[in-house]
Order: sequence, then structure tokens, then C-alpha cells
Amino acid sequence: MLRHALEAQGHTVVEARDQPEAVQALRDLRPGIVLSDLRLPEGDGFGVLRAAKELDPEMAVIVMTAFGSIQDAVAAIKEGALDFLAKPVDPDHLLLMVERAAAQRRMATENILLKEELAARRGAPTIVGENPRLKQVTLSLHRAAATDTTVLVEGESGTGKELFARALHALSPRADGPFVAINCAAIPETLLETELFGHEKGAFTGAATRKPGKFELAHRGPLFLDEIGDLPLPLQAKILRALEEKRFERLGGTVPIQVDVRVVAATNRNLKAAVAARQYCEDLCFRLSVFPITAPPLRERQEDIPMLAKFFVDRFCRDLNKKSLAFAPSVVEEMQKYPCPGNVRELQNCIERAVILTEGDTIHGHHLHLSFRGPIVAAPDPEASPWQRVDLSGSMTEATRRVLAEMEQHKIAQTLRDAGGNKGRAAEILQIPLRLLTSKLREYGLD
Ligand SMILES: Nc1ncnc2c1ncn2[C@@H]1O[C@H](COP(=O)(O)OP(=O)(O)O)[C@@H](O)[C@H]1O
Ligand SMILES: [Mg+2]
Repeated sequence: MLRHALEAQGHTVVEARDQPEAVQALRDLRPGIVLSDLRLPEGDGFGVLRAAKELDPEMAVIVMTAFGSIQDAVAAIKEGALDFLAKPVDPDHLLLMVERAAAQRRMATENILLKEELAARRGAPTIVGENPRLKQVTLSLHRAAATDTTVLVEGESGTGKELFARALHALSPRADGPFVAINCAAIPETLLETELFGHEKGAFTGAATRKPGKFELAHRGPLFLDEIGDLPLPLQAKILRALEEKRFERLGGTVPIQVDVRVVAATNRNLKAAVAARQYCEDLCFRLSVFPITAPPLRERQEDIPMLAKFFVDRFCRDLNKKSLAFAPSVVEEMQKYPCPGNVRELQNCIERAVILTEGDTIHGHHLHLSFRGPIVAAPDPEASPWQRVDLSGSMTEATRRVLAEMEQHKIAQTLRDAGGNKGRAAEILQIPLRLLTSKLREYGLD
């Protein structure tokens, strides 16, 4: 009778005969709502309640009690049951309670994620650009969105990897759910595991309560693993298992947790090269690369710069409540010549600054002065490692020699500049004999 009432309202119902069957179903299906009698042929409703709470603290459990056994109902509520129904169950009352439980459950998950989501979200993502390779990326995103395959977005910092991941989510059937993200490079190694997988109460000193990890929070939605190339080796194996089995344990827990997540990963490292250098687990690289998407660097699609610039100017004028601004013609040309090592992020930052600095209605070269005309250095980007721009190829000895020589050369040139070209003074600052400095200047062609 209960099944009929629930199914008539569009709910999916799975029945279990006793506690062991219920516990198995809980593990396999992770239902949103559990409805259990307190008396069962084997085990009891309290056992089901505990198993449900163990698996997912947010799981809504409604218990059914015989008329008159109010103490049992109170005990169940104390153990975490959401509510109780007295038998014989009135179907309307049941439906009301189930609706409420479903709403409460949605709210609980949404609450945790809403703050992060709000901060990260700036409306639905628009991918600006007409470059054929960028169009290809958009096409791939559409194709991948319809499936549940793991997607790996590769590309330099600032090329739009996260933007693509968000667009993918917005295009997918899971778009209603939250976008759960974690930056593997930004979280200290010691905390990363609990952030990903959560922990049980008392799993370690300071673990005062049970905390769900991102894998759990992303249930039925996407999980964005940003900078997955920076994942420490020991965690690579754990992630691999979670991806393959869609199952993991919380830190300090023994119960395997089954989740249904769609993983989207991004990295600015070349994973295949990292595998070759034995810094990355080959199986994980393989597992992640099911559907690879490469974000092209901005210098390889400079035709998109005017369109991007216009898009950002309009956006910042709107955000900053300014009247709309235009670029002086020479400025657009200048921007297109600039190699923009920080990619779209750098362009966006420059333009934001220019919009703030511009008092008239035209953005001139000097508004962009700071990064466009100065020496070509990457905009400070917490995500970029300086080693990405260093040639580390060849054997250990070769690479070390080359990098040291380059470093030495820079150091000498800089010191000589600081010393106003005075070699004696420079040798003093460097604390090396003048003779050595002279020979090095010759060697490096700096004299
Ligand atoms: N094609 C694009 N159109 C519009 N904005 C873009 C585009 N590509 C990147 N951006 C913007 O540039 C910034 C950096 O992009 P992001 O996705 O964070 O790069 P990544 O993750 O590759 O470092 C973001 O603010 C993003 O919205
Ligand atoms: Mg990023």
C-alpha cells in the first residue's frame, strides 16, 4: 500500500525484507529517504537507522511504530530519525512527510555548497572567441556533456580550463545540482585527503565531528578536480580507486561509501611527461584521459583578443557601474602583439585595471601601461610555477648545468646593473674575485 502511494507521486521505491537486506540496499543504492518499521523479522529499525546514518549523516530516516509505543519513536528520533509515523500509516501523512524529508535533504546539501558556489559563480559561463581550436573545444564540451565520462582539460594557466569545466556542467543533465570543486594545488598535502574523502569523528586529533568530503558532496553531480597534476603520489592511488570503483572510505572509517559523481579534472602540467618522469601514476593518467580537451594558449589565437577585450570591458563597466568605454584603435593592435603569457586571465586583469584607471570614455595605451609596455613577465599568478618556463630537458647533469648557468648569468647581469656598471663593486657584492667576474662576463658575452 505504501509503495503504491509513493509511486503514484513519482517516487522510486525499493523494498527490503529485514535489516540485513535493508543495509545492503542502503549501500548499493544510497537512497535519499529511508522508511523503516521498528520491528523487523531480522534485526530492527534501529539497526537500519544506524546503518543509514553511518553511510550518510544527511540521509532522512522515517520510522514507523505501532500505536502506543511512543517511547520507541522518541528513542529513534534521539538516534537521528527525522520523524515517525504511527501505524496504521495514513498515506497522505506519509506523502507529506516524504516531501518534507526530500526538501530538507536538498537544502542540507545545497547549504554546504552554496557559499562556495556563490563566490565562484559569475553568472552562466560565456566562452568568448571564434578561433577554430576554441570552437572545437566548445563542440567537445557539448559532446562530453551528454555523457558521464571523465573529462580532462589540459592547458596553460589562465586559458579557461575552469571556465570550460563550468560550461560543461551547465550543459549537462546534472546542471541543476551544485558544481563541487577542489584545487589540489592550493590545499596542503596533509589536508587534501580529508577534503577529498571526508573523515569520521575522532579520525585524528581535532576531528570533533564527522565531515563529508568533496567526493561525497558531489554525489549525483560533477566533481571538478583542479590542478590534478599537482596531486601528491600517495593520493593518486586513492583517487584512482575512487574513480574506478566509485567508492571510497572516509578517513578513519571502515564503511565503503558508494557515490555517483562525474569527474572533470584540469591540469596545467603535461601528465604524459610527468608519467614518463615517474612523477605521476600511469594508470591514473590513463583513467583521466578518457576524454581529453586541450585549452589553446591565447598567443595561438590572437585573433580572439579584440573580442575578449570588448567582452571584459563591457563586463567590468557593468560591474563597476561605469558608463561604457571604448579602446583607442592603437591599443587593440598593441594588445594583439603582446604575447600574454598569463593568457586570458592576464588580459582580463589588465583590462579590469584599465577600466578602473580610465576617467574619460576611451582606454588609451597608458591605461594598460603596467603590463603591456613593461618587460615581458608573467602576471603574478599563484597557479603558475616559474619552473614551467624553464627548460629542464636532458639528463640531470645537463639540466642542472644549464639552469645554474642561466641563473648565474642573470645574477651577474643584475648585480652589475645595481652597481651602475662598476665591475669592482659588482665583484664585491657577489663576493667573488674581480678576475673571475671578468672571465664570466666574457663567457656570457656580457662585457
Ligand atoms: N574564452 C573565454 N571567454 C571568456 N572568459 C574567459 C575565456 N577563457 C578564460 N576566461 C576567463 O579568464 C579567467 C581565467 O580562466 P580560468 O578558467 O580560471 O583559467 P585556468 O583554470 O585555465 O587557469 C576566468 O575569469 C575566465 O572566466
Ligand atoms: Mg584554474
